[in-house]
Amino acid sequence: MRSLLTVGLVCVVTAISAVANVDAQGGAQAPLQNLQVLPKTMTRPEVQTLMRTVAASLGVQCSHCHVGSPADRAKDDKPEKLMARKMFRMSMAINSDLMKDIGTAPTDGSMRVTCFTCHRGALKVPNAPPPAGGGF
Ligand code: HEC
Ligand code: HEC
Repeated sequence: MRSLLTVGLVCVVTAISAVANVDAQGGAQAPLQNLQVLPKTMTRPEVQTLMRTVAASLGVQCSHCHVGSPADRAKDDKPEKLMARKMFRMSMAINSDLMKDIGTAPTDGSMRVTCFTCHRGALKVPNAPPPAGGGF
């Protein structure tokens, strides 16, 4: 289940990974300290790449969820980070359990429902269509 999320999000990101590694100050080799949801086998560059996709999917910067400098990424000081962790869990459950019998699962293990599926580049997720747009 976890590898599904990772593979999917990392795949999504490959296309835009030309973006400069803005978090290099964190130290590419420094071990990750506080992965509770993502696979502990992920490397720092893999997590950073995934995080850039997550940030872009929500239209926010790293500092929306993280305090301090790149050396402080493991800290859980912001409620936004805790919320995001819940969202990671929810997205994994949707992809691995709830989507199980729907359509055809991608053979490469990529995720069908990502942060972007709902968030579309914004923090706030609309839950109704614009007024008078329906035609029902
Ligand atoms: C929407 C919230 C959110 C944003 C934005 C975000 N992160 Fe994260 N980040 C998280 C969460 C949640 C975790 C913990 C994941 C877990 O528990 O498995 C995390 C973990 C990390 C870690 C692992 C730290 C450790 O040692 O455990 C790194 C590194 C990191 N983020 C870098 C970044 C960078 C760089 C950016 C900006 C490009 C960024 N994050 C943007 C939510 C966010
Ligand atoms: C199935 C749709 C869906 C998916 C997928 C999804 N979200 Fe959300 N997200 C929501 C909804 C709905 C809310 C509003 C929750 C509420 O009412 O507080 C929300 C709220 C949030 C918030 C708080 C926004 C605020 O108002 O401050 C964050 C942060 C967040 N999501 C991060 C993520 C991340 C990171 C991912 C991918 C790992 C993700 N979401 C995937 C639907 C989704």
